Amino acid sequence: MGQLFVALATGLIVTSIWLLVRNARTLTEKIITKLLVVLHPIKDAQNTGIPGPNWKPFDGQTLEKFLDGKARTEEWQRCYGPIYRIWSGTTPEIVITRPEDIRSFHSDSAAHNKARSSNAGWMFHQLLGECMGLINGPRWTALRNEFGPTYAHSAVVEKASILSVEAREYVDHLDPQRRPGFRLRAADAVSRFPFFCTATSIYGPLSSQEKDQLWSVAQQNLAIMGKYVLLGGIYRSGRLSRWLSPASVRELGAFQAAWEEFNVRMFRTRREKRKLVPIVELWRHVEEGLVTKDEALHTLSEILFANLDVATGTLSWLVIFLALDESVQKQLREELGGRPAEESCTKKDDLLAYCFMETLRLRPFTAFSIPESSPNDKILGGFQIPANTSVVVSALHVNYNKGFWGQDSDQFRPGRFSAVKALDLRYNLFSFGFGTRKCLGQRFGEVMLKLFVIHLLGRYDISLTPAARADLDKVGRDNWVPIPEADVFFTERKA
Ligand code: HEM
Repeated sequence: MGQLFVALATGLIVTSIWLLVRNARTLTEKIITKLLVVLHPIKDAQNTGIPGPNWKPFDGQTLEKFLDGKARTEEWQRCYGPIYRIWSGTTPEIVITRPEDIRSFHSDSAAHNKARSSNAGWMFHQLLGECMGLINGPRWTALRNEFGPTYAHSAVVEKASILSVEAREYVDHLDPQRRPGFRLRAADAVSRFPFFCTATSIYGPLSSQEKDQLWSVAQQNLAIMGKYVLLGGIYRSGRLSRWLSPASVRELGAFQAAWEEFNVRMFRTRREKRKLVPIVELWRHVEEGLVTKDEALHTLSEILFANLDVATGTLSWLVIFLALDESVQKQLREELGGRPAEESCTKKDDLLAYCFMETLRLRPFTAFSIPESSPNDKILGGFQIPANTSVVVSALHVNYNKGFWGQDSDQFRPGRFSAVKALDLRYNLFSFGFGTRKCLGQRFGEVMLKLFVIHLLGRYDISLTPAARADLDKVGRDNWVPIPEADVFFTERKA
C-alpha cells in the first residue's frame, strides 16, 4: 500500500512539473510573440494584425518550414488563410499563396534583395552566406556575370551531345554487376549523375581520384548541413557554437580548408594544362580581387553541394513518377524513338517536357521559397507590408492550387501542361523561381535531367516496389530537400 502511494505521489509530482514547464514554455512563446508583433506591426485597412503561428524557441518556424514543409503548408493555410506571418529566428517572414500577390510582390523584382544568409543563422552563413543566390546589388551582378555564360541557353545546347554521352555511360553502369534486373533506392541510383555533370561544367573532365576527393568534400558539407544547420538552436550563433560545440566548429574549419584546397588545386592543374574551363577564369578573378574568395567558394558550394540535393531530389521524383506509370513510359519511348536525344532534351512542348514540369510542380525542392524583400512598401492580401520585409511564396500551395490545376492537382498527369499557356504558368507554378533571381542552372538542369531519362528508358523498364507504392511520400529527414526513400526495379529491355 505504502509503495503504491509513493508511486502515485511521484507520478503526480512529475506530471505537475511537466505541465508547469509546458505551460511556462507556451506562455513564454506567447509573450515573446506579442513583443515581436509590436516591433514588426503589419496590419490591414481595418487595423487588424496579420495572423500567423507563435514564435517558437529559438528558430521560429525556420526548421519546420524545410523539414515538415508539406504538413505545415496545409496546417498554416487552414489556420491563417491566404497570407500569414511566420518567424525565422526573430525575423518576420510573410507567406503569400495567391498568384495576384506573387505578381504584385515581384512587380519590382529587379530591385529585390535576398535576406542575409536566408535568415538561417551563423553556421549556415559559414557554408553559403556569400553565395550568388543570397547576395545582392553589384556583388550579385558580378557573380552572375561570372557564371552566366557557362549556363546560358546557347552554351547548354552546345554541351548537349557531351552530356548525352555522359548520361548513356552512367545509365549503362547503373548496376556494376550488369544484372538484367536489379533494385535500387531511386536517390542512390541517380545522385552521382547530376553532381559530376555539374562538376565537369566547372572543372572540365575529372580523373577518378579527383572525383573521389570531390565526393568526399561534398559528404563533409552535407554532414555539417544535416548535423548542425538543420538543428538550428545554438548553431544560429557563432559565439554559442564555439562555446558549446567546439567540435562542430572544428568540423566546419576542416571542410572549409578541404574545399579551398580542392579548388586551388583544380585551378593550378587546369591552368598549367592551359584548359579553358570556368574554374581558371574564376580563380584568376579571385586573385585579382574582382570576386572575393568566400563569394567564389560559397557559390561553388551552392552550385555543387546545395544543388546535389536539389537535382537529386528532382531527378529521383521524376524517375519514381515514371516508374509509377507504365503507360507514360510507353508513350515516352514512342515519342523519343524517332529522334536524337540532343533534340528531345531541348523541346518544350512534348511529353518529356511535360513530365519534367509535372515533377517540378508536384515536388518543388522546397515548400517555401527563399526569403526576399522589396525596397518598396507593398499591399499584399490587403495587408500593408513595409519595405524590406522578407516575403516567401508557399510553393506547394501554388503548385497544388485546385482553382488553377483542377480537382486532380495532386495527381501525376503530365498531359495537363499541353492545355496551359506559358504566360499563365508565370505565377501559378513554382519551378525555377520568380523574377530576376531565377535559377542560374535552369537550362543546364533541364537538359541534364531529361538526357538521363531518355537513356534510362532506352535501356530499362522501371517499376516501383510494392512498399514504395504504398508509401510514396516517405522522405529522408536528414536533408533540407525532400529526398524520396522509394526503391525502384530496373529491368533491362530486350534489344
Ligand atoms: C532541376 C534542378 C534545379 C531546380 C529545381 C532549381 C531551382 C532553383 C530555384 C527555385 C532557384 C531560385 C531560388 C530563389 O527563390 O532564390 C534557384 C536558384 C539558383 N540555382 Fe537552381 N535549380 C536547379 C538546378 C540548378 C543547377 C544545375 C545549377 C548549377 C548551375 C543551379 C544553380 C542555381 C544558382 C546559382 C541559383 C541562384 C541564382 C541567383 O540568385 O542569381 N541550379 N534554383
